Amino acid sequence: MDSSSRGIRFLVHRRALLLLLLVASSSLVGTSRGREAQPLPAAAATALGSRRSPERHGLALDFYARTCPAVDQIVANVTAAQYRDFPAAGPAVLRLFHHDCFVEGCDASILIAPTADAAAPARPPPPRVERDMEENRNLPQEAFDTVELAKAAVESKCPGIVSCADVLALAARDYVQLVGGPYYAVKKGRKDSKVSLAGKVRGSLPRANSTVDELLRVFAGKGLGAADLVALSGAHTVGFAHCVHVLGRIYDFRGTRRPDPVMDARLVKALRMSCPSSGGSARVVVPFDVSTPFQFDHAYYANLQARLGLLASDQALFLDARTRPLVQDLAANKTRFFQAFVASMDRMGSIRIKKGRKGEVRKVCSQHLFSA
Ligand SMILES: *[C@@H]1O[C@H](CO)[C@@H](O)[C@H](O)[C@H]1NC(C)=O
Ligand SMILES: *[C@@H]1O[C@H](CO)[C@@H](O)[C@H](O)[C@H]1NC(C)=O
Ligand SMILES: *[C@@H]1O[C@H](CO)[C@@H](O)[C@H](O)[C@H]1NC(C)=O
Repeated sequence: MDSSSRGIRFLVHRRALLLLLLVASSSLVGTSRGREAQPLPAAAATALGSRRSPERHGLALDFYARTCPAVDQIVANVTAAQYRDFPAAGPAVLRLFHHDCFVEGCDASILIAPTADAAAPARPPPPRVERDMEENRNLPQEAFDTVELAKAAVESKCPGIVSCADVLALAARDYVQLVGGPYYAVKKGRKDSKVSLAGKVRGSLPRANSTVDELLRVFAGKGLGAADLVALSGAHTVGFAHCVHVLGRIYDFRGTRRPDPVMDARLVKALRMSCPSSGGSARVVVPFDVSTPFQFDHAYYANLQARLGLLASDQALFLDARTRPLVQDLAANKTRFFQAFVASMDRMGSIRIKKGRKGEVRKVCSQHLFSA
């Protein structure tokens, strides 16, 4: 895959990616791919608390039916054009939506732009807004640009009506479909936050090396269960991670100076070609889904079964007895993955919705309404 022709801003080493793809396709033959996993026992699903949904906050499919009936189409026009020019914006917008919803709810608090310190412009300012935090610093600019462009298009047709939080939810849905995933209707009616605080980020997001215990705790904190964790992790069917998140696994797993014994040795080898142990470019990225990195499908789960998960937190979902049956279930059936993903996106998109005077409808997504 030629990274430049795909418009990917990061470097994907062509030879290494080819190797990754070879590793993936050979490993999957005769393993998980062809075989159907046992269906998940209903009792297991219930025990995992997966059907517990967060509180509903009166979101509605037709929230803008009278005030901005074409909002879905206006946003879709922009996301389609952006996807043509910057395909990497797809996974990036999905990640942006996730990072927004998991910190203080789906309220566009992630979109507020950092401000320079007027008193000491030369010094890097202390973190103030969510975007200042390390967890959010490498969110690609294309993702923010897409939301800002879509919001501008919406403002030109229905000024002051549609929140940035809703525009982000719609754009994320559009990209899922554009990369080959399911189309689903998005409920609307979120207000934008009046604050964005750096201090709210820590501990709210999964990490590349999170254990399943930690992942379950973070998700439970948002009213989401194990089924949501496994279904939403399927977003790693597309997108790329920076080398820094895999270096430990491929060179020095938990201080052993050896790779993670769980990772397929051929994947270790392929990843080492892209990611040198030191001195590598900070811009190099490697695909989460080594078999079909540009296609929204359920191959991510088959990869986990074949020990081809990229991050420790991906692979852990298959290693842990609490989540393994869920991985097997989604690996076996793409339709079930799509259904589970859509249901979990709806639940994630309902986290801590701001209504009424608790929120605002921004004009420009990176600035609070009364910031000037
Ligand atoms: C979407 O784009 C098409 C083609 O550019 C245009 O004709 C149509 O009016 C646009 N629709 C909306 C709702 O903006
Ligand atoms: C994950 O990595 C961070 C540093 O990036 C470290 O502080 C933390 O202890 C690690 N967690 C686990 C479970 O290894
Ligand atoms: C996949 O799952 C869907 C939805 O649960 C079901 O209708 C379909 O029969 C399943 N397909 C296979 C091959 O099991």
